[in-house]
Amino acid sequence: MFILGIESSCDDTAVAVLEDDAVLANVVSSQDSIHERFGGVVPELASRNHLLAMQPLIRSALHQAMLTLQDINLIAVTQGPGLIGSLLVGYSYAKALSYVTKIPFIGVDHMAGHLFSVFLGKKSPPFPFIALIVSGGTSSIYLCESFTSFTLLGRTRDDAAGEAFDKVAKLLDLGYPGGPSVSRYAARGDAKRFSFPRAWLDKDSYDFSFSGLKTAVLQTYKKHHRDLQGDNDQLTSDICASFQQAVIDVLVQKTITAAQKNTIQTVVLGGGVAANKQLREKMAEQCRVHDMSLFLPDPVYCTDNAAMIAFAGYHKYKKINIANDFDTDVFSRSIYN
Ligand code: KG4
Repeated sequence: MFILGIESSCDDTAVAVLEDDAVLANVVSSQDSIHERFGGVVPELASRNHLLAMQPLIRSALHQAMLTLQDINLIAVTQGPGLIGSLLVGYSYAKALSYVTKIPFIGVDHMAGHLFSVFLGKKSPPFPFIALIVSGGTSSIYLCESFTSFTLLGRTRDDAAGEAFDKVAKLLDLGYPGGPSVSRYAARGDAKRFSFPRAWLDKDSYDFSFSGLKTAVLQTYKKHHRDLQGDNDQLTSDICASFQQAVIDVLVQKTITAAQKNTIQTVVLGGGVAANKQLREKMAEQCRVHDMSLFLPDPVYCTDNAAMIAFAGYHKYKKINIANDFDTDVFSRSIYN
């Protein structure tokens, strides 16, 4: 089966073509340069630019896959969660394409895409597994038993991990998106210089909270920047390293505890923050210590992409064998979140 995947939940427009589980084409048009000067995504600009990018990207993906629209058997499209205006562009496009071509279309939860992005790599994890999904919009831990059965164990109570990276980057004036630049600075910094708070929350809770950490970073920066005699670059690097360490410590420990408590031996990562090298290394180290297997998606499948949407859509369709109706709509909040 050939599947056309469409993703437009936030600021990246993405299209992919899969033949069953195999990726034939995966193209992304980033809007980072458009939103950078605002330090975050401007929803109206995101929707308008999805409209501009969609048609050329679909052409380009089909061309790369050496297929035409007539070859496609299923259209899989992100239905939510995300920015409503952005989602509407991709979802309406998929509906229109489906109406004209008679190809069935299926709505996919963006979280399911992130959960299964690891299957696009060389080695697939066995079910059941514990998944940590960390992106700009979510920080969640799931118990995943099949392609269509996953239970939310914990989620962020305020900022998502990626959002915390982006906000810290904004406050240190490191540009948008913040994750990659904060981690670049962190690589040169001393993670022990500042002891930032780790929010463990209630005993046995798998929830996260990063807003206090963000405030601590702000106060530390203000204090030290004011007294600064020497190297601002070193201060920025040390803050980034200490902040990153605080985020990673909590993410890793809660994930490992969730796996232990549910007697699961397999751990999976997903979402944009899963591209973070330190997080990948620390999770790998802790999985080794606890005799667990870790499966990491390729970094291109960590950030938003349509290959993961096509994959999740394909498996959902195989299971339920029902296409979406034309009167269905997008949703802003995940049903799994
Ligand atoms: O999954 P994604 O592309 O979009 C959402 O669904 O949100 O994730 C984007 C998020 C941004 O917050 C970005 O700062 C973060 O992932 N990110 C990183 C890294 N690369 C991207 N965070 C930490 N370290 C990275 N290397």
